[in-house]
Amino acid sequence: MGIIDTHCHLNDGEYDTDAPAVIQRARAAGVEQLINIGFDVASSEKAVRQAAMYPGMRATVGIHPHDASTMSDAALTKLKALALNEVVVGIGEMGLDYYYENSPRAAQAEAFHLQMELAKELGLPVVIHSRDATQDTLAVLREYAPLQGVMHCFSGSWETAQICIDMGLHIGFAGPITFKNASRLQKVVTQVPWERLVVETDCPYLSPEPLRGRRNEPANLQYILEKLAEIKEVTYEEAVKMTTLNARRVFNLE
Ligand code: NI
Repeated sequence: MGIIDTHCHLNDGEYDTDAPAVIQRARAAGVEQLINIGFDVASSEKAVRQAAMYPGMRATVGIHPHDASTMSDAALTKLKALALNEVVVGIGEMGLDYYYENSPRAAQAEAFHLQMELAKELGLPVVIHSRDATQDTLAVLREYAPLQGVMHCFSGSWETAQICIDMGLHIGFAGPITFKNASRLQKVVTQVPWERLVVETDCPYLSPEPLRGRRNEPANLQYILEKLAEIKEVTYEEAVKMTTLNARRVFNLE
């Protein structure tokens, strides 16, 4: 069964010179489907364009909390038009980031709400980013529950994961589960039920061990799945099968 990278940014300028080679390496590593995640209007447009171009690629459209100050009526209208494209499988990534706080908190909250409304209106799954903003993120999500979607690159507690799962969300794990100091997060992985777990690279960021520090890419999902299989005490093939079935269900894929 083919692996699905549920969160990558091949729309990032990091891949401008070698996207086809990156996709080929993903295929060779068994990664057959990629969800290319928008983070502002331009990258959402690019994600849709690339998804129409490369077989096995889908896109989401959204504005990351870092770029929340760029949300406007025009931006929202553009996202909505893009979201009607058949390659679009979700809205995001969106949410709250109080760690970097690149956009003021009020702007982040506004952009988050507008995108949650859009997802609800269009009946699309959501891709949620939350960093150092757990309680405020959960409060917004509660307004829209029940939900279909992913808490992306999860690094929180089991209590938080459980609340998200109760709202209907899946938990996305990325490179950090492979890190040497990740015992707390690995414990959370053991607690998240199989049927609510998906994997992602979040490339070009967060390369897993043993490639930490380098540009990440979807082919590296194999290292995350190896670690997941080890933590959950199942075979690699079993880890692939479970996470792929979940990813298909969350994003309504074939
Ligand atoms: Ni991301």
